[in-house]
Amino acid sequence: VSGKVDWLEFERAAAVLRRGGLVAFPTETVYGLGADATNAEAVKRIFAVKGRPIGHPLIVHIGAADQLDAWADDIAPAARLLADAFWPGPLTMILPRSARVPDAVTGGRDTVGVRVPDHPVARALLDAFGGGIAAPSANRFGHVSPTTAAHVTTDLGDDVDLVLDGGPCTVGVESTIVDLTSSEPEILRPGGVSIDRLADVLGRVPRVWMGDTELVDGGARAPGMLAAHYSPAARVELVADEAELLTTAAALDGSGLVVGALAPAALASLPNHVIELEPAGEPEEYARLLYARLRQADRLAIDVLLVIAPPERGVGLAVADRLRRAAVGRPEH
Ligand code: TXA
Ligand code: MG
Repeated sequence: VSGKVDWLEFERAAAVLRRGGLVAFPTETVYGLGADATNAEAVKRIFAVKGRPIGHPLIVHIGAADQLDAWADDIAPAARLLADAFWPGPLTMILPRSARVPDAVTGGRDTVGVRVPDHPVARALLDAFGGGIAAPSANRFGHVSPTTAAHVTTDLGDDVDLVLDGGPCTVGVESTIVDLTSSEPEILRPGGVSIDRLADVLGRVPRVWMGDTELVDGGARAPGMLAAHYSPAARVELVADEAELLTTAAALDGSGLVVGALAPAALASLPNHVIELEPAGEPEEYARLLYARLRQADRLAIDVLLVIAPPERGVGLAVADRLRRAAVGRPEH
């Protein structure tokens, strides 16, 4: 499965979950902080460890689509189509919850988010455990999602009972969330599955709900998708292109970090305190590197992060969405 994790470790991890412990594990999107989804006390510990408001519901991760009926009721035909097409994979579906899902998971809502992750370590863990694993991203509340085991350990330290290391995440941004509880499927969060691919399967372009950026928690459709999420400590500034990046960087008085494509010749004209990161090429590569770079900015105590967003095609839409949220800044509380 992975050079670093053997089957014994999956048995040990499953045992930790069974006794109500927390296991961080890799998925193809980001690392999750997992608990037995039927154990309300264990699930509450996730909220305590993350510092996450209890009204922000968690996604239940399952091993295969044929377990969906255990967690959701009144499953729309479109949900079956999407499960067939995209599971295992970076798609979360919001469905009416079944009686088995505790309030602690859904924040008291009558819906539940479910997904089958596509990572060999996540799948082996789900196999060994047998049940559903409730898991948010394994970061402290309001911080950047982790895409390596080291990110998890840096954020959560000893508050997590076990961290499974499956290497860097290959998608790098969170799953696409589709709400299937009303007549029209609606995208609540752009993510690893593109709108085009969803449209191909649904036979029409789904509505994308891009709200919440100005809302307080109470009004949020997908609480946790607030403006101030995904933020590093640095101030994030979006610039349109290299020309704007160069003029903005030249005027910086703090230390700056440049993310995005930049020709080395242009870079030579920038002040020394501007550091260039390896330019991201395609949106897929940008997504894979994004959170590691935001964390790198924190480690380097960077003040300002100048970012050229990728084209908003494919997973580029999700990257642009996270960058816009990062640019709004950190929660004040
Ligand atoms: O890729 C992912 O989705 C990662 C990996 C670990 O699976 N998980 C993740 O979880 O991003 P989290 O908790 O960081 O984000 C889940 C989002 C939150 O914005 C939450 O509000 C929304 O999903 N969500 C979960 N259940 C929901 C529900 N029943 N109704 C509306 N939104 C829901
Ligand atoms: Mg999260």
